[in-house]
Amino acid sequence: MKHFLDPTDFTLQELDEVMNRALDIIANRAKYADVCHGKKLATLFYEPSTRTRLSFTSAMMELGGNVLGFDSGQNSSASKGESVADTVRTVGCFADIIAMRHFKEGSAQVAGEFSPVPVINAGDGGHSHPTQTLTDMLTILREVGRFDHLTIGLCGDLKYGRTVHSLIKAMQRYEGNRFVLISPVELRLPEYMKNELGDNYVEVTTLEEAMPLVDVLYMTRIQRERFHEPEQYERLKNSFVLDMPKMNLARKDMIVLHPLPRVNEIAMEVDPDPRAAYFRQVENGKFVRMSLIYNLLNWQDKPRHIEHPATPTDKDCTNDRCITHTEPVEKRAYTDANGVLRCYYCDHAF
Ligand code: CP
Repeated sequence: MKHFLDPTDFTLQELDEVMNRALDIIANRAKYADVCHGKKLATLFYEPSTRTRLSFTSAMMELGGNVLGFDSGQNSSASKGESVADTVRTVGCFADIIAMRHFKEGSAQVAGEFSPVPVINAGDGGHSHPTQTLTDMLTILREVGRFDHLTIGLCGDLKYGRTVHSLIKAMQRYEGNRFVLISPVELRLPEYMKNELGDNYVEVTTLEEAMPLVDVLYMTRIQRERFHEPEQYERLKNSFVLDMPKMNLARKDMIVLHPLPRVNEIAMEVDPDPRAAYFRQVENGKFVRMSLIYNLLNWQDKPRHIEHPATPTDKDCTNDRCITHTEPVEKRAYTDANGVLRCYYCDHAF
């Protein structure tokens, strides 16, 4: 069973295939109008969403398929205590493919282990959001023309920002990419991710320092829903605001991305600037999800690509947001390339 739970579930060649298929869909819409006739996508969203859920729905409709699902755990039997494992086993009786967003980190991995049909991770807590990464990558490809030798600035909540984690994981696989990390000290990128970047990053505390350096600036919102202490969110929420004086410090051919929703981290005066690519990015999300659904349904005879085989341990994950504390799974960990013991489900370093 081939799922898409993490950007590294696909080889670079498979990612190329997804991108090329998306470009072909954009150029030949009519060719794909019926390719999923008779197929059903289930969208299981335990967390709010506008872009991801509706773009999956729109994508499947444009491929000629049908969509069923729920947009809140409260409207499903999760409200009666049903596990993710049992839910996907049930939904797999009704649908050919599942896109799931859940607030627990590692939930997508659990869904993939129990589902009888392919699972797409549409966001698992603060951990990962790989289809947003496909959206970001298609936008970079269409706007910049390449995935390598880029300087990518990532600004905002780098601790809880799952879109940031997935984008870094994906882009660090391409040669010559460097990262400029722009965040408050309290919301810096997790140490395990910085270890994996080696010397290929710098950390700065102001947007002004980063603007002249970057080919791509990836703005993110401070994630209010991930904070344990509301007063910390209030203190940090306006840490970075991209406005025209800061845009004037940047190169003429750079682009600004944002997974959206924005709160106030990009001033509306930036929107008409041709470098502001975030609404073009939204539309790319639909095309790349069409490509992903089409490819996954056609790739089910391929072996799943796993970069980090798990080594069973008897240790409990120490991340209180991890799915392993609430689902009937083995609590397994593995050792990463730097010798750090990490949770197989949520990637948290012990
Ligand atoms: N980018 C993104 O995930 O947006 P939604 O939360 O609206 O789906």
